[in-house]
Amino acid sequence: MCRLLRCKTQALPIVDRYRVEQDKYAVVKNKKRVSEYGEVFTAEREVKSMCDLIPADVWKNIDSTFLEPSCGNGNFLVEIFSRKLTRCRTTDEALRALKGIYAVDLLPDNIAESRNRLYGMFSSVYGESDTAAKILSTNIVCGNTLTGKRADGTPIEFLVKD
Ligand SMILES: C[S@@+](CC[C@H](N)C(=O)[O-])C[C@H]1O[C@@H](n2cnc3c(N)ncnc32)[C@H](O)[C@@H]1O
Repeated sequence: MCRLLRCKTQALPIVDRYRVEQDKYAVVKNKKRVSEYGEVFTAEREVKSMCDLIPADVWKNIDSTFLEPSCGNGNFLVEIFSRKLTRCRTTDEALRALKGIYAVDLLPDNIAESRNRLYGMFSSVYGESDTAAKILSTNIVCGNTLTGKRADGTPIEFLVKD
């Protein structure tokens, strides 16, 4: 998604490019989703401020574990992975960092967007990776955090670190 958006952005005239950037950071997709799912995303500035409240030691450890129980389109996931990536020097380290991120959301499009954003971040530095894609498809899950189940009724299970 990130990479697609970047390509699209480069090809657009200035006015449209501004609109795409605005859409990218919109905190609301539409009113129906707000009333039905409480879907209001956290803006980047607030995400960063909240992450700054977490002790620095947590960010120094690429194996630190995070669970986002209602991840939306991934605003917190992107910031978490971005901070982890600054500590990674190899593909293996980046995969380890990715493995410590777990998330759930009720809505399939949010899950697709979250996975795509994280995959775009990984692949832009370390290249395409089936392992990264597998981690994301297993650990960024469409389901209901309150019941612990996916839409098909099966339990939400994560790929835990070795
Ligand atoms: C207020 S938004 C926050 C999204 C994200 N955490 C952020 O701060 O940008 C709430 C999200 O929770 C999801 N949601 C609502 N009820 C849920 C549930 N029972 N289990 C998982 N996700 C849920 C919605 O689809 C929506 O994306």
